[in-house]
Amino acid sequence: MEDRLLKDKRILLGVTGGVAAYKAVVLASRLTQAGAIVDVVLTEAATRFVTPLSFESVTRRRAYVDMFELGDNDRPGARPGDVSIPHLALARGADLVIIAPATANTLAKLAHGVADNLLTAAVLAAPAPLLIAPAMESHMWEHPATQANLAMLQARGVTQIGPATGHLASGATGVGRMSEPEEIIAAARLVLARHGDMAGRSVVVSAGGTREAIDPVRFIGNRSSGKMGYALAHAARDRGAQVVLVAAPTALPEPYGVRLVRVESASQMRDAVLAALEGADALVMAAAVADYRPLQPSEQKIKKAHEHLTLELTRTPDILEEVAALRAAGRGPRVVVGFAAETSDLLANAQVKLQQKRLDLIVANDVSVPDSGFAVDTNRVTLLYADGTIEPLPLMYKEEVAHIIWDRVQRLW
Ligand code: CTP
Repeated sequence: MEDRLLKDKRILLGVTGGVAAYKAVVLASRLTQAGAIVDVVLTEAATRFVTPLSFESVTRRRAYVDMFELGDNDRPGARPGDVSIPHLALARGADLVIIAPATANTLAKLAHGVADNLLTAAVLAAPAPLLIAPAMESHMWEHPATQANLAMLQARGVTQIGPATGHLASGATGVGRMSEPEEIIAAARLVLARHGDMAGRSVVVSAGGTREAIDPVRFIGNRSSGKMGYALAHAARDRGAQVVLVAAPTALPEPYGVRLVRVESASQMRDAVLAALEGADALVMAAAVADYRPLQPSEQKIKKAHEHLTLELTRTPDILEEVAALRAAGRGPRVVVGFAAETSDLLANAQVKLQQKRLDLIVANDVSVPDSGFAVDTNRVTLLYADGTIEPLPLMYKEEVAHIIWDRVQRLW
């Protein structure tokens, strides 16, 4: 699956002179693999640690060092033989500038607008947002000069990732390690997402299958993997929304850039969802919420003392029905989306839920087929709208389904 956020984005990656420069090769490679167009600029000091060729090999583009070496001009309207001024050409097209590693020296130059090499000149000329990943020895990091320079950069809206604490080049352990390439990419994604079509929106998504306690070690659960809900949260984040993800237990890694509220039971999910709805523009309930829970969970582990065991179950709160009541009272989010996981009479069952829960949209999902539903990466769903419209979608990745759901929510807003 292609990366919608990074694909075809022009990233100017500045590499300055620290031992972490070798990790910048990994960073350039990952960004390129995600579809970004990565132009690397190294300072002279960086070339002592790693060569332009390393970057050119992973980005399959020229890497730049020299401020005074003119390049080919490939702008529209250029005549054969026209040249371009490298720092201006690099600055002009960039969607994002990342400096990783960013040394104390380069941070000082950036803070004061010094432009004495190709990188600092390009940064000065670039209107794009700037993300820095500082890396240096602890004392240099803690020095008031460095901290004052950072404060100036932050006041100008520069985004900073790290440094982390750990093993340093000096042999000591302390603060000053450059963040790992994955973390830098996560931070870059958040910066790029700021101008997404959901910027300024705040959404709540539920995910996973709730667990209802039978005794301290056992529960009633279901087969939901949480993948659809997590995909919805990732997609909204990548489009610039503020996201609260209310998640029942899943095996999925914790998402970055999303407020994760972990819950177990249906009643905990109810409380967390209702609390998160304050000021939210939309709720998407992708969670598989238990409809029944053991009436009286045992305080001690149940022993296998009898041949038969009967558990008495009682209803859990229906979260979407409570949200419908909220909306009827003039509160609650503007758009509410539910899911209907069915094994028979898909559309008829979904239609009933759409009306009963007074939803704007329901995502009907036949979980009896192998390529759709629980624990797989794909879904074949049909969207049913409050106005009676029915929109069947082909088999697609859950990430793609997520983006389509947000497209439709945008329309409903
Ligand atoms: N849902 C909810 N609260 C519950 C149960 C379900 O908010 N206690 C939400 C789900 O998150 C989903 C929608 O309601 O978005 C439909 O869930 P589903 O389990 O398919 O429907 P139920 O209303 O539980 O009906 P049934 O189990 O009888 O099919």
